[in-house]
Amino acid sequence: MDSRVNVVSNFFNTQPYLDNTFNIALRESIINELKPKLILGKSVLDIGCGDGSLSLPFLKSNKVVAIDSAKAMLLKAKLKFSQVESNYEPEIIEGDFLSYSFSKKFDLILCIGVVAHIENIELLFSKIYDLLEDDGHAIIQISDADHYRYKNSKSSLQNYGYELNKTGKQEFIKKLINSGFKLKKQSGYSWSFFPISRFSQKGQFFILNKIRKVPVFNFLTSEWLFLVSKVA
Ligand SMILES: C[S@@+](CC[C@H](N)C(=O)[O-])C[C@H]1O[C@@H](n2cnc3c(N)ncnc32)[C@H](O)[C@@H]1O
Repeated sequence: MDSRVNVVSNFFNTQPYLDNTFNIALRESIINELKPKLILGKSVLDIGCGDGSLSLPFLKSNKVVAIDSAKAMLLKAKLKFSQVESNYEPEIIEGDFLSYSFSKKFDLILCIGVVAHIENIELLFSKIYDLLEDDGHAIIQISDADHYRYKNSKSSLQNYGYELNKTGKQEFIKKLINSGFKLKKQSGYSWSFFPISRFSQKGQFFILNKIRKVPVFNFLTSEWLFLVSKVA
């Protein structure tokens, strides 16, 4: 693994990212809305799978491959996966997605919470594109770096030990399209804020999940998930 990936892994091996369960639950809820219908046995790749929460719902009926560069995250994912009965044995890979050689293509690729930690978005997109089946889909997430709330947010100002990739939503969409993807759907949510941030994790999820569906609150949306495909 190159040094950037080592620093990223070190960050995720030691930081309490997983404490924000409201955030993971919101992502799960949106993936559930955006995802295409997958028939039994289709393959799913979860890039930067973290504790595996986002690929867990696919485990029962799909062939899941989960990759992450952080060992501590993968230990949690392994434990989660071992508690689900599935017809298909999930494959868990410790490594850098950008340099890992996959031997097959995928019907659905999840890339959630990862873009900010990758230096070269074009490289990431071209690898995802190449790994997608011709009729496959990917769901890719970003925090909109142009959003007024992101600029002063704790997560954008935090010291990661490396420069975060800060890309605005419009530039991100342009890069997706320049990489050959067709944008099919998008949906977003708001990061937590006072006084909602005083609620329990479940409470924050409940409120933010309601808010994201009310158009008048759209101006709060800083986190975006895009469903893309190779064909229109
Ligand atoms: C913010 S977490 C997101 C975890 C999960 N996808 C979620 O949304 O809850 C980012 C994860 O991506 C992993 N990651 C970052 N860069 C990576 C790379 N180049 N290859 C594999 N995993 C990577 C980190 O180790 C970390 O577990």
